[in-house]
Amino acid sequence: MDYPPTALPHSLAAFIETSPGYHAAEIDALRTKDYRRLERLGHTYLDFTGGGLYADSQLKEHHAWLADHVLGNPHSHNPTSLAATHFVEEARSAVHEFFKADPAEYDVIFTLNASHALKLVGESYPFEAGACYLMSYDNHNSVNGIREFARRAGADVAYIPVRKPDLRLDADLLERGLTQHAPCPNRLFAYPAQSNFSGVQHPLEWIEHAHELGWDVLLDSAAFAPTNRLDLRIIKPDFVPLSFYKMFGYPTGIGALIVRHEALAKLRRPWFAGGTITLASVQGEGWHHLSPGHTGFEDGTVDYLGLPAITMGLRHVSEIGIDAIHSRVDALAGWLLEQMRTLVHTNGEPMFRIFGPDTMDRRGATIAFYLLDPDGAVYDVHRIERLAGEERISIRTGCFCNPGDGEVAHEIEPSDMQKCFTEPSMPVTYDQCHDIIRDRTGKVPNTVRISLGIASNFEDVYRFMTFAEEFRDRSVRDLD
Ligand SMILES: Cc1ncc(COP(=O)(O)O)c(C=O)c1O
Repeated sequence: MDYPPTALPHSLAAFIETSPGYHAAEIDALRTKDYRRLERLGHTYLDFTGGGLYADSQLKEHHAWLADHVLGNPHSHNPTSLAATHFVEEARSAVHEFFKADPAEYDVIFTLNASHALKLVGESYPFEAGACYLMSYDNHNSVNGIREFARRAGADVAYIPVRKPDLRLDADLLERGLTQHAPCPNRLFAYPAQSNFSGVQHPLEWIEHAHELGWDVLLDSAAFAPTNRLDLRIIKPDFVPLSFYKMFGYPTGIGALIVRHEALAKLRRPWFAGGTITLASVQGEGWHHLSPGHTGFEDGTVDYLGLPAITMGLRHVSEIGIDAIHSRVDALAGWLLEQMRTLVHTNGEPMFRIFGPDTMDRRGATIAFYLLDPDGAVYDVHRIERLAGEERISIRTGCFCNPGDGEVAHEIEPSDMQKCFTEPSMPVTYDQCHDIIRDRTGKVPNTVRISLGIASNFEDVYRFMTFAEEFRDRSVRDLD
């Protein structure tokens, strides 16, 4: 298959014909109208798992709202303060409503991002000797990092590996992990609803099963929520961390921890701050009362000017429809995977190696891969990123803060990495570690990733395939 720009209209027509889930009529029009800066500035954006894109209408609505209100710090009872409080609570209700999180069951804590939400859990969960922290291999580093709190408190820390080629969890090992640690009093199991590396979507039924075995469950939804329906009437994780900029691009710097009241009551904050207490005394050292619920976890002043933009962003997503966004990116990623599976050099050798599922079965629209030369050698991923950048195509390279998927995908053994952690000239950087592993083993511990989202269209994925085709029959040496 070839991807000449001149054939784009024909390919688009054929794609629309066979992909009703693409919702061409409604969402293509929205892309043209509300995300027109992409065309105007000539960008092909393929890094939605890194960050979502905002619509022009979101900015206009927020700026008009700012221009029309006088708002003060919410922690008071004057008119501007009360107005700010009203809009903060409106944003909280919008989050409840969007995720169908019954306020009688779930609270919403506003945070800086998903990592901050995870840190709140990590530093406050009652880890102690005999407690457990169980994780899947394919967690983001912000979930892996909780293990430092667990370890310091003397809790057990354990991982369930993912397996090649799909990079899914082995169900037997998961079952063993969940039952083996069953006697511990406080047990936290953390996994991503969607891997930000492989796009794998794990069964959400695990949540209930883990609950039955006495675990609290943290479902990292940062990579899942932007293009999938998360309905908290149906699934009941205890902790759900999110970043809103990944869902609708604007503003950055606001996330949430959606948390079951019961699980929140288990958390013990290691400190208090302005805004989180009902009362503190300097004379009675140790005297303070933490505020109940989310208030006790929102340190200092929340982003009271930014939070109304969360209400607007969620409304924007709802107006398009999360199911329509889902089926659209599903159709686009399905087309991409099919092209990647079939694109070959003239000698018949494949041009792509996909890490993770190579069909749309139980996966999202995040695709990790290598580009290969006619002899099967891997093109340098940074070079690919640079060449794509010269054509204003934004793709991502590296390990995406997901070392577990990367280590399994690239078959990196602990012995291959050991030197990166035992060098006297610590700290070893990611690039140095890459070189150490490559020089010792010939393995390439680095990946390219494409991810689709709210504003993606067929032209974007076609444009990427036109770019990839430029590598046909070029050896790694030619490229250098
Ligand atoms: C699955 C997953 N979890 C957590 C995070 C952390 O999000 P943030 O950097 O917004 O804190 C990311 C970011 O890419 C992610 O993809």
